[in-house]
Amino acid sequence: MADGSSETKSSNQMWGGRFSSGPDAIMEEINASIGFDKKLYAQDIRGSIAHATMLAHQGIISADDKDKIVHGLNTILSEIESGAFEFSRRLEDIHMNVEARLASLIGPAAGRLHTARSRNDQVALDFRLWVKEELQKTEKALTALIAAFLDRAEEHADTVMPGFTHLQTAQPVTFGHHCMAYVEMFGRDRSRVRHAIEHMDESPIGAAALAGTGFPIDRHMTAKALGFREPTRNSIDTVSDRDFALEFLSIASIAATHLSRLAEEIVIWSTPQFGFIRLSDAFSTGSSIMPQKKNPDAAELVRAKTGRINGSLVALLTVMKGLPLAYSKDMQEDKEQVFDAAESLELAIAAMTGMVRDMTVRADRMKAAAGSGYSTATDLADWLVREAGLPFRDAHHVTGRAVALAEQKGCDLADLSLADLQSINAAITEKVFDVLTVEASVASRTSFGGTAPAEVRKQIAWWRARN
Ligand code: ARG
Repeated sequence: MADGSSETKSSNQMWGGRFSSGPDAIMEEINASIGFDKKLYAQDIRGSIAHATMLAHQGIISADDKDKIVHGLNTILSEIESGAFEFSRRLEDIHMNVEARLASLIGPAAGRLHTARSRNDQVALDFRLWVKEELQKTEKALTALIAAFLDRAEEHADTVMPGFTHLQTAQPVTFGHHCMAYVEMFGRDRSRVRHAIEHMDESPIGAAALAGTGFPIDRHMTAKALGFREPTRNSIDTVSDRDFALEFLSIASIAATHLSRLAEEIVIWSTPQFGFIRLSDAFSTGSSIMPQKKNPDAAELVRAKTGRINGSLVALLTVMKGLPLAYSKDMQEDKEQVFDAAESLELAIAAMTGMVRDMTVRADRMKAAAGSGYSTATDLADWLVREAGLPFRDAHHVTGRAVALAEQKGCDLADLSLADLQSINAAITEKVFDVLTVEASVASRTSFGGTAPAEVRKQIAWWRARN
């Protein structure tokens, strides 16, 4: 409301014909989107150049006007990039800011650019181009994160650690195997990104306001010029569709949820109690009062970013819910959610990639923890099935008694004597000790996708060929 001057009261130059006075200051405040949609300047100018080029090719405007328009748009691009461009809230949005400047640069020819076009298909185009580029960046960022995990997995294919369910020690696994779980998760995120790019690879420009146009435009030509596979097939849907933004946000939300789980593990692992990893100085902070502290702030912030990203998805779903076809101004509220989520996601992936690459893995601590909590109890039960022919349920019971005995003696399963074990089941022999160590346990889990180092190395090779 700062500039509620007399200037704002004059009627709008784009539609002034129908209006005798300009907007109220509050109207201008609620209506303007230039504060955030100026982010779309490059897409807007690119779209306009493709549109003008097509109009001239089709004989709808002259080649001379097209040249002036293209030259003017390129001038505006450099003005914006150098910071010289003055954005005006009175001109509402990026589309009208650019068009008004074009008029002041090249005169009447500027008025021909908006032939066979509306801001409805224009904004659908600009935003789609922006989201598509953002998804391409996300794809690259996820590839870097996956690469970081593949390196750590390779390095630690033999490093044993406790595997958890309910955050209680379950069975020994390798750190390499645990890293590869994240590779799978971020690999799925990346394939969702790729599918979304394919879904949205249709050009909206030429749908005009909602009904298409009577001018002999060539939508295939603009689609091709702008790098889309083909034009959209229904003009009404084109200007009312924001699925591409919703898909981006849902992909971002799932990825952020994955990142938050990794963040949580990093927070837990870096506590003195766990001590599985040490974060690098580059990705931690100190405390202003407790000199001994090294805090995993970056991981905590990644965990928290999930809140805003998931919130953006819910916000846009709620904006779109119940909107009648075709365009409604409600849809202007789509951009800030996507911009904010995109920025948060980019930062979260980059921070995680850095943390994973830089952290020190404390294999000794992992190994010590891997053996505690009777983590090889399942191996004992499996041995009884395999070597002594017991049904699994009976083997489970015998093993439970062995665990109870070890607990009573305050030792690990591997520390029980053969006599102790035979007092529970006479079929147990010396050979059982081969499976009670954590190394033997992980080495035995050779099923496809299992934790055996040899199997994990196979999975690493599979991913390396695809990353
Ligand atoms: N700033 C608007 C938006 O972001 C552009 C489209 C406006 N179209 C209209 N018919 N008022 O959605």
